[in-house]
Amino acid sequence: MSKENLNEKIVSLCANRGIIFPSAEIYGGVAGFFDYGPVGVTLKNRIRSFWRSEFIIKMNSIYEIESSIILPRIVWEASGHLEGFTDVLVECKKCQTQYRADHLIQDTLKIATDGKSFEELSEILIKNTIKCPNCKGELASTQKFNLMFKTHIGAAKQSVNEAFLRPETAQAMFIDFKRIQQTMRASLPFGIAQIGRSYRNEISPRNFLFRLREFEHLEIEFFVHPAGKDDLPDELWAKVKDLQVAILSIPQQEKEEEAKLMKASEILEQRIFSCKWLLYWTLISYDWLVRVGLDPSKLRLRQHMLNERAHYAADCWDIEFQYSFGWKELQGIADRTDYDLKKHSKFSKKELNIHLTEENIKVVPHVIEPSWGLERVIQALLESAYVEEKERTLFKFNSYIAPFQIAVFPLMKNREEIVERSKEITTNLKQFNFQILYDEKSSIGRRYRRVDEIGVPFAVTIDFDTLEDNTVTVRDRDSMEQERVPIKNLAEMFQKRLSFI
Ligand code: GAP
Repeated sequence: MSKENLNEKIVSLCANRGIIFPSAEIYGGVAGFFDYGPVGVTLKNRIRSFWRSEFIIKMNSIYEIESSIILPRIVWEASGHLEGFTDVLVECKKCQTQYRADHLIQDTLKIATDGKSFEELSEILIKNTIKCPNCKGELASTQKFNLMFKTHIGAAKQSVNEAFLRPETAQAMFIDFKRIQQTMRASLPFGIAQIGRSYRNEISPRNFLFRLREFEHLEIEFFVHPAGKDDLPDELWAKVKDLQVAILSIPQQEKEEEAKLMKASEILEQRIFSCKWLLYWTLISYDWLVRVGLDPSKLRLRQHMLNERAHYAADCWDIEFQYSFGWKELQGIADRTDYDLKKHSKFSKKELNIHLTEENIKVVPHVIEPSWGLERVIQALLESAYVEEKERTLFKFNSYIAPFQIAVFPLMKNREEIVERSKEITTNLKQFNFQILYDEKSSIGRRYRRVDEIGVPFAVTIDFDTLEDNTVTVRDRDSMEQERVPIKNLAEMFQKRLSFI
């Protein structure tokens, strides 16, 4: 199957099965916005709760918050988004189609544009006399376009009331830092985490869920002592030390080398990362993505080149996935230093530091930030789990990530005793919190194919023998093997097979 084909097939399967489809579809849809149907929303919930389980519940000293989506202008002045959160826009003079300059250059000249400045992109467009791909018209001069959605708080449309929809959840973790630290009596190192929607008015949303205007962030701001950035406890290092990952560091990229597999211990020895905490957060994030079900052969860690790196970052890595449209950023992990706390401290005139009682000094912590885009995780998972076999198409989701976990089928819908028994089993399994799909329509073979397509790992069929011996057939999605299981053992069996704990 060609790569373009894979993306097309997934987009169409998602729409046909109501998993994920364009928002406002009956009005023609709107680029960069998608709705989730019952299967899609359950998949999303499942990934979210797996994230919450691994990064908040099972970890020590990570505190979850939920903040406002709309924040006043001053927050974005302090964070630098008002000034610098821009892409380069170019418009066709004839047909008025707008393009993101770097995308237009990539598509037309097939060259990389990562880290190129406004001036560099403008020069490339002029030098190569790039025309509008739509109508071959001449392009106007480039301009900087701020990606934040602007609004006003209250009725008066004055600049003092200006506010913006957040383009990242991160800033709230900085502005709420002091309150969380004090109320949770947190000492360094500790983290503040948030799951929530972010909004970016992207010039050219594209590639299904990859570049959206509304998406969900999973972010952690992890605060460490500025002098303790290598002080990773042994028990945390033990969790990642045996991992082997594909690495693409700055020197490798300069020499145009391929990514190479390295052991965590080698990476540490060679001091490729700015600090041990950054390495830990990158590796533990990678490990989580593999456990979600992403194909590890399509994952690599790429270090930002110096011209790509945000001016405040001491080091920054992307976990990249080889999507059907190329290697792209799935997650970013940055060493943001003390930049954000200091900026908000300056603008708010509030002290954002920690008093260390033993040393009797105040320190502004440094921040390590792992930031995932949930939709990019979903798209990488869909591409990893999609399988075509001779007679069926299926998503081989890990059983603990699969949206619907168990399908319940009465063999025949016109046999009252069988239907009644099937409904009873469904009700009973629901008490254990399993997400069940009950279906009595069409042949059993077609019902199996339908649930394979949305990745349901197990199907329970109730037949005539059930009425005699209280057993049912349990079919495994991947092997298609069937086993006979007593009804009384079903809940316990599924608890074992569907749990990620
Ligand atoms: N707080 C850091 C931050 O927001 P980012 O690299 O701009 O950094 C982090 O975004 C992650 O958010 C990305 O790795 C990606 O997964 C996701 N993301 C960013 N822009 C996105 C978009 N337009 N659509 C979908 N996901 C996006």
